[in-house]
Amino acid sequence: MLCVRAPGRVNLIGEHTDYNEGYVLPVAISLETRVHARPREDMHCIIYSDTLDEQAEFNLSAIPEPADLPSGFVRYVAGVAWALQAHTERTLTGVEATVCSDLPLGAGLSSSAALEAAFAVLWNTLDELHLDRLTLAQLCQRAEHVYAGVQCGLMDQAASLLSEAGHALFLDMRTLFTQSVALPPNWAIVVADTGKPRALAESEYNLRRAQCEEAAGALRIVLGKEIIALRDVSPEQAALYLPLVEEPARRRARHVIGENARVLEFLTALRHADAPRVRHLMLASHTSLRDDYEVSGAELDAMVNACLHAGAIGARITGAGFGGACIALVEKAQLEQFLHQAEQHYRQHASYEPRFYACEAVSGASVCL
Ligand code: GLA
Repeated sequence: MLCVRAPGRVNLIGEHTDYNEGYVLPVAISLETRVHARPREDMHCIIYSDTLDEQAEFNLSAIPEPADLPSGFVRYVAGVAWALQAHTERTLTGVEATVCSDLPLGAGLSSSAALEAAFAVLWNTLDELHLDRLTLAQLCQRAEHVYAGVQCGLMDQAASLLSEAGHALFLDMRTLFTQSVALPPNWAIVVADTGKPRALAESEYNLRRAQCEEAAGALRIVLGKEIIALRDVSPEQAALYLPLVEEPARRRARHVIGENARVLEFLTALRHADAPRVRHLMLASHTSLRDDYEVSGAELDAMVNACLHAGAIGARITGAGFGGACIALVEKAQLEQFLHQAEQHYRQHASYEPRFYACEAVSGASVCL
């Protein structure tokens, strides 16, 4: 029997920047998915989700097309198997596996990336594939593109596979340079789930991505072919040339360009545990996601307000948006009082059932000992 764990993530800052070849700063959190697996003699996979009480099967010798699989968790698992087999040109070992998770589904904490990462590490170990973590993350992303139909960036899979305990993970999505950044030891990470399930997340997400590409294309005509992605546009160029781009692509681009600059500033602020600066940057990020990227909503805004009201250092949407959770940074000494006050305040302003999780920053997916 082999057991693998893979964490979910929150993103401190750098939202919707990854697929624009920009910067992100996620943290792997102590809400995790676990897979217990027994290898089989044949190439058959029987996967049971304890969380959903659902079972599904497929065979590795002929992995079904996504449309021929039931929607839901098995698509991610089959997708990972498909991506690993295509990359290694090998057939993997069949497994009988049970999946359990304390990651809330649909809260924007990357439960799907955690599921993918767990199975990627499982087969990497079982079949001695010797693939490095970055390659595993890229193959998980490919699985998500093809088997879940979401044109996601690499942030979630990378956070689940590459993170170091006690640290955030800075990633430059163009060069794939990564660096672990220590978190101030007296700051707590709080996931504040609005209780509002994410809605239209897939179609709206893919639409945002297309709008960013449209903006980059329009700016390339003006600024030349060195503009490959929005990452290449400076805030100064944006001020001058964004008015030439049509709405809503203009506002989408303004968010991405501003957000990339905020990530770099946030790195310095975090290293100095500069609470006022961190607060300013998180709020600027939230406002930009709300007004320019249009991925917030009444509940997410209410939750950010509740967290600030309760004394958070900073708070903002985390993940794709359209419902789901916020991230708040809180002084550890004030944690209990914060949790109480934030919950009360949110309940007064929203009708969904909130959930708060004070999380540790944990290491990326691993085989359990
Ligand atoms: C989802 C995607 C990520 C990233 C975020 C937004 O979580 O999977 O790749 O784009 O949204 O920052």
